[in-house]
Amino acid sequence: MLDKKGFDLWADGYDRSVGLSDEDGTYPFAGYKSILNEIYNRVLAAPGKAVLDIGFGTGTLTAKLYERGYRIFGQDFSEKMIGLAQEKMPDAQLYPGDFSKGLAAPLTEQKYDAIIATYSLHHLTDPQKVDFLNRLLPLLNPGGWIYIGDVAFENRALLEKCRRDAGNEWDEDEIYFVYDELKPFFPEMRFEPMSYCAGLLSLTAVFTHTS
Ligand SMILES: C[S@@+](CC[C@H](N)C(=O)[O-])C[C@H]1O[C@@H](n2cnc3c(N)ncnc32)[C@H](O)[C@@H]1O
Repeated sequence: MLDKKGFDLWADGYDRSVGLSDEDGTYPFAGYKSILNEIYNRVLAAPGKAVLDIGFGTGTLTAKLYERGYRIFGQDFSEKMIGLAQEKMPDAQLYPGDFSKGLAAPLTEQKYDAIIATYSLHHLTDPQKVDFLNRLLPLLNPGGWIYIGDVAFENRALLEKCRRDAGNEWDEDEIYFVYDELKPFFPEMRFEPMSYCAGLLSLTAVFTHTS
């Protein structure tokens, strides 16, 4: 698994290497652009302009929203990635920090219309994912959504098939999303496959109205 330094080193070549894997339709990034486009369109279609991006990398997705006037907040532990993203989004509030230890304090004081995490949360174990998502849900404004785009599978059999097909390319250190194992914790969660190895998970908070 890449650590903070590993991502610093990958930062300059990141957009290119992701683009190549997506164009070739190969694991792990087959479906990458479709996922980012889908999230972009859903955020644009919804009301509200506050977006939190967790593990934003070079800011590929959020920079497009920033250009459309969205208020962008984010957290990433790679200083190099933060530098590249901040150049594209000078007024975005981007904080350093390891999300396996939680969100930077100022980010917990805001509410968001969308919380995005693309190709980042597979660095958390499954129990950590559940815990982290439970901490994110109360940060949504009413009607807001969490969108997770990542290497993800409907069930473990499909993950195992992808692992066999990927052979030596498979990254044993990354812990990919398996929808039917997460759904018991989040019955409202939806999953849409976007390629044979990637999908979009979406989750909204259930708000109760008090009179
Ligand atoms: C594969 S890149 C994805 C970047 C971007 N979201 C995208 O879709 O192109 C993963 C990003 O998550 C960040 N990241 C990984 N683990 C992290 C952690 N534990 N805490 C904070 N950031 C982390 C990395 O620095 C990197 O920028």
